[in-house]
Amino acid sequence: MPLPEGFLQELKLRNDMTEVASSYVSLKKRGRNMVGLCPFHGEKTPSFNIYSENGSFYCFGCGVGGDVITFIMKIENLDYIDAVKFLAQRAGMNMPEDSFDDSMSVLRKRIYEANRAAAKFFYTTLTGKSGAKGLNYFHSRALPDATIRHFGLGYADENRYSLVNHLKSLGFNNNEIVQANLAYQNKNGNISDRFYDRVMFPIIDLRGNVIAFGGRIMSDAKPKYLNTSDTPVFKKSSNLFALNFAKNSDEKALILCEGYMDVIALHQAGFTNAVATLGTALTPEQALLMKRYCDEVIICYDSDEAGQKATNRAIDLLRNAGLLVRVISIPEGKDPDEFLRNKGDKGRDAFKNVIEGSGNDIEYRFRKMKTKYNLELSEGRVGYLNEAVKILSALDNEMEQDVYVSTLAKEVGVTPDSIRHQIRKHSRSKYNKRQKDNFRKLQSDLNGRNDKINTERYKKQRVTTAEEGVIAYLVKNQDKLSYISSQLDENKFQTEFNRKLYSYFSERIKNGDDALMSVSGDFTPEETAKIFRIINSDFAKMANDETLRENIGVINDEYARLKLSDISSASDEDIQERLRRLRDNRK
Ligand code: GTP
Ligand code: MN
Repeated sequence: MPLPEGFLQELKLRNDMTEVASSYVSLKKRGRNMVGLCPFHGEKTPSFNIYSENGSFYCFGCGVGGDVITFIMKIENLDYIDAVKFLAQRAGMNMPEDSFDDSMSVLRKRIYEANRAAAKFFYTTLTGKSGAKGLNYFHSRALPDATIRHFGLGYADENRYSLVNHLKSLGFNNNEIVQANLAYQNKNGNISDRFYDRVMFPIIDLRGNVIAFGGRIMSDAKPKYLNTSDTPVFKKSSNLFALNFAKNSDEKALILCEGYMDVIALHQAGFTNAVATLGTALTPEQALLMKRYCDEVIICYDSDEAGQKATNRAIDLLRNAGLLVRVISIPEGKDPDEFLRNKGDKGRDAFKNVIEGSGNDIEYRFRKMKTKYNLELSEGRVGYLNEAVKILSALDNEMEQDVYVSTLAKEVGVTPDSIRHQIRKHSRSKYNKRQKDNFRKLQSDLNGRNDKINTERYKKQRVTTAEEGVIAYLVKNQDKLSYISSQLDENKFQTEFNRKLYSYFSERIKNGDDALMSVSGDFTPEETAKIFRIINSDFAKMANDETLRENIGVINDEYARLKLSDISSASDEDIQERLRRLRDNRK
């Protein structure tokens, strides 16, 4: 059963779209709307719009859109019901009882509980009789008990049924344990522990839930680390280890490392702003997540080749998310954990020096580049210059560019002006390419090839646009339903998605409900985005009585044409479509 209208209405009233969004995104007024940098994709000029008149948002850069519930679903990684619960709690409202299907929400709650119980169990095992092996391991890696407690580290012993038996004794069923990815199920339906004979690192989200684990084997066996796979409460690509602590650090920057042990060693040494990805390369989601808590990221990856490759990739992702980037090269030892351990008591100061001596991403790239060319030779200098120009033309800040131009000019023995000239040339060709790409995108947007939701647009551009115009008008002028329906028969909508949409809105308005109130619950996120695009487009804003008459005219016109056009020249597909329509009309 859907949520009651009255409840949704109050929920939205008490959770103003602009207010909710502005606690995640910094917004500026532009005309009647608010705009900001989209939190769902990396961008440098704002295309994320908030429409207060209908309580919605839409990003013209990435095509994400919806109401305040959709916004919370996306930014907090929740499903519909949990996003509603989140907003209800935010506004101090009670959820209506028993009126909605929350089986998924119940399962997720059980998974959180199972994870918490598992974390407790691993910790108790570690500090108990059978935990010596794990505890010795942590001690051998210079982790004192206080650190172990702080991070809730644990030990999964050798027995392959320890956790499963414990969780069952607490009342968890097989399905819950398997869905939490804490156990495997064999063909006979029996379950056994996923983690055994490993030291355990719980992964905790920003709300304090245990969402997953990483487990390290204590020998050279493979895999070295075993992580929880994605579950209904965990997506490894959009979480970071220790962000729950790091978000409270006073530092303006976050330190991004490769491994759990690096993060723990750094926190122990006082760098509580360190986080790590969860056994995968950095993703755009993680970069945007960091952007919510800091302006600058200090990359601190291993100094081996793989680490350096990962650094280059991370630089691009972080820059694209609008973050400043610095790169640390660990002078001795492979990773921060080893570095700190080698330095003993002096670790903290030594690492502070490393951070202070670290360059930004541009300096890092220059340094790496320089090792490739022999600046004594003229072809070395030319190669070096060409590559440097590429790096510098990617900078949008002219002042920043200028600083490097002067250094570079001195280094290579050419005039700053000639470097600037090259940069301009390079930027221009990049600009031209971007313009061409934009144009191509615009063109395919216009001809409908990109429309994944209304797939008929491509074949029926004229009528699709008119249909959307009518829908946008109707939503804006809900009192005009009877006029519109007197002029236009619903069956004349030719594209199925728009026909469904028109009939959905008409039905709601006839029932006395607001057209848009439960779109986010009644449609998929992709459809919801599309609907709010239709409603908030520039085209929709122009909708008035005159364009309405025109659009109705186009729809009627196209329908008449469809009826008249010669059957013999129609494709099989068209004939099928027409037969289907005839059948539908007869019903
Ligand atoms: P230690 O050897 O314990 O110091 O590990 P580390 O933190 O230095 O790890 P390493 O640099 O080898 O790997 C960095 C991160 O990659 C780890 O923290 C894990 O998250 C992940 N990782 C490492 N090995 C594996 C593996 O075998 N499987 C998976 N899925 N992830 C791994
Ligand atoms: Mn290590």
